[in-house]
Amino acid sequence: MRNLLVAGNWKMNCGPGETAALLQGIKNSGVTIPDNVDVLVCPPTISLKTASEELQEAEDIALGGQNVHSEDNGAYTGEVSTKMLKEVNCEYVILGHSERRQYFGETDKTVNAKTVKALEDELRPVICVGESLKQRKANEHKLVVRKQVEAALIGVEEQQAEQLVIAYEPIWAIGTGETATPDQAQEMHAMIREVLADLYSQDTADSIQILYGGSMKPHNAEELLSQSDVDGGLIGGASLKADSFTDIIKIAG
Ligand code: G3P
Repeated sequence: MRNLLVAGNWKMNCGPGETAALLQGIKNSGVTIPDNVDVLVCPPTISLKTASEELQEAEDIALGGQNVHSEDNGAYTGEVSTKMLKEVNCEYVILGHSERRQYFGETDKTVNAKTVKALEDELRPVICVGESLKQRKANEHKLVVRKQVEAALIGVEEQQAEQLVIAYEPIWAIGTGETATPDQAQEMHAMIREVLADLYSQDTADSIQILYGGSMKPHNAEELLSQSDVDGGLIGGASLKADSFTDIIKIAG
């Protein structure tokens, strides 16, 4: 039985000082992380070392990056490598977030290269997929997401696949306050699981956590997390407040 994963994507928020304060707020909340829940926080790169230090006495909270380059090093101004993320104790890395696809030219090809590199260097990819409102209105959402999943996993072998995390993030629900209904989320998550079963095996597909992202808040978390193929959340705004993030952790338990 797979654990639920409650993950915070802090995006371009929380420099080192705010990172320390937010993590202290989470630790001091007294939240007991349920046995069936994994917790992950993904601060901006500049704050990862601070986060790593703050999490030394909170071993039940994992650390992740928000992006990584597919090369080991080189003339890639502004980028970070898998080795650098590992050096500050990152276990996960978010890849292919729609904001990186929209604003920074991320493509299915670059997401795939980064996924292969992350797995090679023992970082767990959190691969983001999701359709635009236009694509959903055109009833193209299933095809779009299927293609994103398949493209991201080219060259990923079955024995690596259990390290994967997939985040279904309908673009129209990100930061909008509009959330997919539980039925919409379940339908897409079930389809993603079918794609994973086609690529690998049903057992492997069943072992992979598929997160929902897109305005998950304490008030809607329970109905989303109760769906059979929703294995957690990739949370933006609500992860920037210790109380709302810890509320979702409790609800997941
Ligand atoms: O990666 C998670 C993020 O895109 C969701 O953001 O603010 O809608 O929870 P938010």
